[in-house]
Amino acid sequence: MTAGAMREEAGKTREEIGNPVPLPAVGAEPRDKDNGSTVAVIGDYRKDGYAHVRGLIPPEVAAAFLRRLRQDMGPDPVPLSRVSKHPNLLARPAFEVYGQFYPPLDFFLWGLTPAAGRLVGVDLLPTYAYLRLYREGDVCKVHSDRYACQHSLSLTLGYSDGKTWALEVERRRTDPSAKVDPDFGGSDFGAVEMAVGDAVLYQGVHHRHGRTTPNPNRWSAHIFLHWVERDGPYGDQAFDGRGPQGELDFGFG
Ligand SMILES: [Fe+2]
Repeated sequence: MTAGAMREEAGKTREEIGNPVPLPAVGAEPRDKDNGSTVAVIGDYRKDGYAHVRGLIPPEVAAAFLRRLRQDMGPDPVPLSRVSKHPNLLARPAFEVYGQFYPPLDFFLWGLTPAAGRLVGVDLLPTYAYLRLYREGDVCKVHSDRYACQHSLSLTLGYSDGKTWALEVERRRTDPSAKVDPDFGGSDFGAVEMAVGDAVLYQGVHHRHGRTTPNPNRWSAHIFLHWVERDGPYGDQAFDGRGPQGELDFGFG
C-alpha cells in the first residue's frame, strides 16, 4: 500500500471504512469481481464530501479516449514552452482544454450524467468538462471550485509510468473562496489513489482539494466533469450558461 492510500485509510482497515457498494443500475452485472474492475463506491460522499469511484469506466475506454486526443492534437510535442500564462492553481503551464473547444469532452460529460446522478442520488444537469495533462513534478494547489462544480468527478485517463497520483480532498466543509494554498495547513484530508478508469466524486465547492505531492509520472491525463442539481440553488449554471437557445430544426435538401 502506498503512503497516499494509507492517508486515505486514515488508520482504518478497508472493512472499517465499509465494503465497496455496487452501484445500482449502472450497467448490468459487474464485469469481473476478481480483477478489481467492479464499479464500486468507497467512502462516504455525503459525510466527507468525496468518495472513490473504482472502475467508473473501463481502462480500455480511457485509453481509447487518450489515443483519439493524441490523434487530434497531431504528432508534434505539446508546445508548453511557448505558454506564458497558467492558472494560479498550477506552478507552471499544463495542457488544458475545455469541452467547449474539444466536443468529445462535453459528450463524455453529457453521457455520464445519468451515472453521476445515480452516484449522488439526485437529478443532475451537466455544467462543463475539461481535460488536463500534468507533467512530472507538477502539483495542483489546494483550492475550492465555483458553483458550477456542485458535484464533480475527477477521472483518471492515463499515467505514462503507471504510478498512481492521489487527488486529495479536505474532509471539513468550508465556504467557497478564491484562496489558493500549497497544502491543507494541518486540516484533515483524504488522498485517493486512482487507477486508470477510476474517479473521485467530490463536492469541490465546499471541500478544498488539490494534488500536493509532485506527479511521479512523465505525464498523467485527467478529465474533470461537473454537474449541478437540476432543482438545486445552482441549477442556472447548467451547460455553463451556454444552454440550448432558440428553435431547433432540421432542413433537408
Ligand atoms: Fe478544483
